[in-house]
Amino acid sequence: MQVLACLNGEIMPVEEAKVSVWDRGFLFGDSVYEVFRMYQGRCWLEVEHLARLKRSLGELDFAPHDLSRMMERAHETIRASGIKEGTLYVQITRGVAPRSHPFPHPPVPPTEVIIVRPYDDGPTARLRERGVPMISHPDLRWKRCDIKSTNLLANVLAIETARRAGAYEAVLIDAHGFVTEATHTSLLWVREGRLEGTPEGHEILPGMTRQLVLRLSGSLDIPFAGAHVTLNELKAADELILVATTTEVVPVIELDGAPIGTGTPGPIALRLHRAYEAAVQDWLADLARARPAAAPVLGG
Ligand SMILES: Cc1ncc(COP(=O)(O)O)c(C=O)c1O
Repeated sequence: MQVLACLNGEIMPVEEAKVSVWDRGFLFGDSVYEVFRMYQGRCWLEVEHLARLKRSLGELDFAPHDLSRMMERAHETIRASGIKEGTLYVQITRGVAPRSHPFPHPPVPPTEVIIVRPYDDGPTARLRERGVPMISHPDLRWKRCDIKSTNLLANVLAIETARRAGAYEAVLIDAHGFVTEATHTSLLWVREGRLEGTPEGHEILPGMTRQLVLRLSGSLDIPFAGAHVTLNELKAADELILVATTTEVVPVIELDGAPIGTGTPGPIALRLHRAYEAAVQDWLADLARARPAAAPVLGG
């Protein structure tokens, strides 16, 4: 098992992958990314992540990128790494050109980075059982948080404040006093048996896990409604729930030092996580049926 990178089509140990100091991803954060969870060596929600990546590229006026070729490279890197439980990270930058703010003219080839690394779910599984504390923090991000760009400095500063305060995540509060989301996870909450979350728009990332969890909540007869809430309204919710690609579904038990609901993981978070696990298992079973393991080749 080896952590591998694929840089512009060339697979190598991750330590050997180097990009130029003229890369616009490095200089300006002029790049987009995705993180896929791999279960048993297969990419979960692959089509959905690729659709979001395509949208991010389009919103930032990148030249069309060959995502099929990128995924062929990604699958080859996964196979070469031998990693089964892991994450696939992909990043596309606007390429390498001497530092100047406008897009390079003529355009330069993009930089494509793929990284495959193992992911140990054990620590997160323990958080799912115990629940996590959270703090609130001003949302200092730009006005297009729906684009998954690598401009993550405001997210980094907010989660660092949270971690120094002993919290797992920070809920971000916009300039009008409304809840948006968390620094690297989507936030949902429960009021009177109903699941709620900030409506999709420029203020939040359209989370793949959130979209899946909302589909699952429908099949569990848990109603969902988009809602704009203040921090005080959030604190009065019965449950707070963080959802994201590696986090899956994690209950929040404390916000700014005060308990949420009973101060223990709530029943809806638990039901949603069970449904999430079942969805992954069903998908893996479907894949195994569709593409059974190759028949063993008899050696001579
Ligand atoms: C700001 C933000 N919100 C939500 C999420 C969760 O998105 P997903 O479920 O697609 O991982 C992320 C993940 O990186 C994020 O950075």
